[in-house]
Amino acid sequence: MWGLPRRRKSPSGFSPSSTAEEVTAGIDGSGLVAIVTGASSGIGAETCRVLALRGVHVVMGVRNLSTASQVREKIVGQVPTAKIEILELDLSSMSSVRRFVDNFDALDLPLNILVNNAGIAFVPFKLSEDGIELHFATNHLGHFLLTDLLLEKIHVTAKESGIEGRVVIVASDGYKHSYREGIRFDKINDESSYNRISAYGHSKLANILHANELSSHLKEQDSKVVVNSLHPGEVVTNIARYWGLLNGLVSLLGKFVLKGVDQGAATVCYLALHPQVAGVTGSYFVDCNTVQLKSHATDKELAKRLWDFSMSLLR
Ligand SMILES: NC(=O)c1ccc[n+]([C@@H]2O[C@H](COP(=O)([O-])OP(=O)(O)OC[C@H]3O[C@@H](n4cnc5c(N)ncnc54)[C@H](OP(=O)(O)O)[C@@H]3O)[C@@H](O)[C@H]2O)c1
Repeated sequence: MWGLPRRRKSPSGFSPSSTAEEVTAGIDGSGLVAIVTGASSGIGAETCRVLALRGVHVVMGVRNLSTASQVREKIVGQVPTAKIEILELDLSSMSSVRRFVDNFDALDLPLNILVNNAGIAFVPFKLSEDGIELHFATNHLGHFLLTDLLLEKIHVTAKESGIEGRVVIVASDGYKHSYREGIRFDKINDESSYNRISAYGHSKLANILHANELSSHLKEQDSKVVVNSLHPGEVVTNIARYWGLLNGLVSLLGKFVLKGVDQGAATVCYLALHPQVAGVTGSYFVDCNTVQLKSHATDKELAKRLWDFSMSLLR
């Protein structure tokens, strides 16, 4: 993020340097309920803070409860009126996702906004407890299941309140670096050809295809729920923690050339709350503006096949 492009304005009126606070200035989110996954650090923690600042009742879906408590304490210190719950969620485990939804249901809250933010990147080859490559399991399949289990509640909330429901999927421009075949239906667990950059890109391509296909389903149902995906920019967070060299560079130089989390959470909060995007669905956003995707990410057949494949893995 160099100085000049940061200041350039755009159709949305926001730029790469706009912060989540700036893009939600003046928006009243009180009465809304949001789930934010991976809210214990980075973009998720900032999203949680800014949504709470705007009056949204936020449920943090996290696997590290003590870090999440510290994040909540800090937010409540700044925003004494913040309404924040913490529920355990390990997206790499289907049973944990199901438990999270049971625990969320027990809170007896409506649900207006789902932010699928949690993610891992560049992890050496590993299978999840369900026997699925870890990026695909965590970044895509866990969120696919979570969204599927929560969708009815988002529908009902939107219908009863008359307020549009929103699903926000944090993907990445890293989708451009997926494996050559796009989604590897026949070898998602193939260790011999595993590449951690491609594996991350693969899961992020899956995030975008999921958003597109879900959006098509919702349109067919004439639903009052929209879904969009986004790239938050290159942001100084812990995302590269499994890649020592890259993580070192991010820690050393990131603050000079990358976005801070306040800017990294901007497009997420924009899609969650801004009236400008009312009715917009199935789009991909960067810096609060729609951006054209590469052809494999708009391939309808691929998206449909991924949907069926993901469903089959959940059984
Ligand atoms: N930072 C960037 O430059 C960048 C660029 C493009 C896209 N993104 C995307 O932005 C999203 C947020 O990442 P970030 O940059 O904010 O990184 P981060 O600081 O590492 O945050 C990732 C969050 O996901 C959580 N998480 C990881 N595995 C999980 C699991 N199995 N179950 C539940 N939560 C889990 C982490 O929890 P723990 O702390 O417990 O691990 C953490 O809270 C990710 O989807 C990432 O792909 C980031």
